[in-house]
Amino acid sequence: MVKSLFVYGVLGVLLVPVLCDLITVCVEDDEDLRVDCRINPKPSQYNSYEFSWSSGSKETLINTNVSGSAADVQFKDQSYVEELEPHGYRMTLSGFTHTLPYNTTYICKISKVVASVYVEREHLLPCSAVSMFLKTSCSWIVCLLLFFCHTHS
Ligand SMILES: *[C@@H]1O[C@H](CO)[C@@H](O)[C@H](O)[C@H]1NC(C)=O
Ligand SMILES: *[C@@H]1O[C@H](CO)[C@@H](O)[C@H](O)[C@H]1NC(C)=O
Repeated sequence: MVKSLFVYGVLGVLLVPVLCDLITVCVEDDEDLRVDCRINPKPSQYNSYEFSWSSGSKETLINTNVSGSAADVQFKDQSYVEELEPHGYRMTLSGFTHTLPYNTTYICKISKVVASVYVEREHLLPCSAVSMFLKTSCSWIVCLLLFFCHTHS
């Protein structure tokens, strides 16, 4: 029993960073591209966000509210950003799903903390699948981990 818990615990530790990522990218039913960025900024810090992608050696800014920088012209008025609970930002981009670069690294920065994820265009998942997956597997694994830690303390 203890041994199998240990195995699940180790498995959980390995899986949590993969499944409960700081940045997730998916395609909505209406074909908008959605990037969720769940970086938790330090409370004392002045909050700002920046969403971009890079393909090849070129990084293109999609949306930001860092003063002094602006989104690439092609993305002007194509995206919007909303706040996520308990922290983080969600960026939604319309009209680019069929023209996304093939091999893209999606990047978000919140108050200078950076998260990025590499996704090939064919491997973008529908958001409905992602949120189901995150809800079930993240909370399940976290529960398991808590249980595991609890029984050993
Ligand atoms: C960016 O937007 C967030 C949330 O709307 C706000 O809290 C923050 O102050 C803004 N940052 C700048 C530099 O305007
Ligand atoms: C994307 O990456 C894959 C795997 O690294 C590579 O085989 C493919 O040629 C790349 N496609 C483009 C369009 O760069």
